[in-house]
Amino acid sequence: MSTGAHLLDQKTGVEVYPVVEEISSLLNRSAQDLDASLTTGERADLRKAVSELNAQSTAGDQGAFYGQQLLLSRIYGLSTQLPEAPTAEGSVVVQEVLRLLEQATMATEDAMLEPGILDAAPTEPSPFLSWLKKLAREHRVYKHPYYREFIRHQATEDDLRNYVIQESVVDGRFDDLLAMMQVGTSGAAKMEIAENFWDEMGNGDPSQVHTHLFNQIFRVFDIPADELERSLTANALLSGNLAVLLCRYRQLYPEAVGFLGMTEWLAPDRFVQVVHAWERLGLPDVGIVYHKLHITIDSRHAAGWFHNVVVPAAESERMRRAIARGTLWRLNSSARYLDERMPDLAAH
Ligand SMILES: [Fe+2]
Ligand SMILES: [Fe+2]
Repeated sequence: MSTGAHLLDQKTGVEVYPVVEEISSLLNRSAQDLDASLTTGERADLRKAVSELNAQSTAGDQGAFYGQQLLLSRIYGLSTQLPEAPTAEGSVVVQEVLRLLEQATMATEDAMLEPGILDAAPTEPSPFLSWLKKLAREHRVYKHPYYREFIRHQATEDDLRNYVIQESVVDGRFDDLLAMMQVGTSGAAKMEIAENFWDEMGNGDPSQVHTHLFNQIFRVFDIPADELERSLTANALLSGNLAVLLCRYRQLYPEAVGFLGMTEWLAPDRFVQVVHAWERLGLPDVGIVYHKLHITIDSRHAAGWFHNVVVPAAESERMRRAIARGTLWRLNSSARYLDERMPDLAAH
C-alpha cells in the first residue's frame, strides 16, 4: 500500500475520535486559563476519551494510532517550538493527557520486543557494543528494500518529495534533539554530544547548518509549512515522537543513547540510496548537499557516539538494558515505518 493510501485510511479513521481535535483546540489557550476552565468531571472525560483512543490504537485501529501520534506530536510542539501567542505549555490537564499518550506509546514499543532479548546483552562494554551492532545487522530494517530497491531504482520525483516530508520529523530538528538529550551529561559523553552538535551547527558557518541544508530540499520541492503536518503518516509522527520522548526525559537518557546512536549508524547507507535516486532523476544539486554530507559525517558520528557515549553509559546492567531497549525501539519502529512506505510492488 502506498503512503497516500495509508494516510487516507488514517485520516478517515481518526474522525471517529473527536477527542484529538478537541484537545488540539485547547493547546493554544494559556495553561492557567485552561486549567481553571475545566471541571473535575470534564477532565475525567478527557482522560477517558484519550484512554479509549489508546486502547483502540493498541487493538490495531489505524485511525486511532494516527490520532494518538498526531495529538502527541502537537503536545510536544508546546515544548519544542517557540510560540507566537500563549500556549497550554505547563497545563496540568495537558500533562495528564500527555502521560497517557506517552505511556501507551512506550507500552506498544515494549510489546514489540522479542521476549528475553534484553537479558541476552553481554556485560562487558565492547562485546555489548558488538552485540548491539549485530542486533541491527540481523534486523530486517538493515538495508531495507525501501532504500535498497525502491528509493534507489524506482522512486519518482514525487516519491522523493514525500520521502523528505516524512523524514523531517527527525532530520529537521536533530540539533534540538541533541540539545535536549545532553542535559545532565558530563565528561566524554558531553564532549561527544557537543562535537556532534557543533557539526549540526555547520561548525559555526550558518550556510552549513544541517537543518538549513535539510530545508534546502523543501525549496527544491516547494513544500509549504502547512502541508507538512497534513502529510505525515502515523509511523512518521511516531518516529519524531519517540525521539522527543527519549531525549526530553532524564530517566530515558540511556534509551536516547541507543535510539540516536542507531539513527546515526543507519543513515549513511540509506543516504547513499537517496543520492543515487537524486542523480538518477537529475534533480538540482542544492537539494542533495544534506544527504551527501551525512554519508561521511554520520559514519564518523556513529563511531564517536558508540565509543564515547554508549560505552561510558553501559556501566551497569540497568543502563545496558535501557540502551538496548532504545536501540530496539529505533530498529523496530523504523522497520514498521519503512514497511508502510514500501509501495505495492505488484503495482509497479
Ligand atoms: Fe546532521
Ligand atoms: Fe549526525
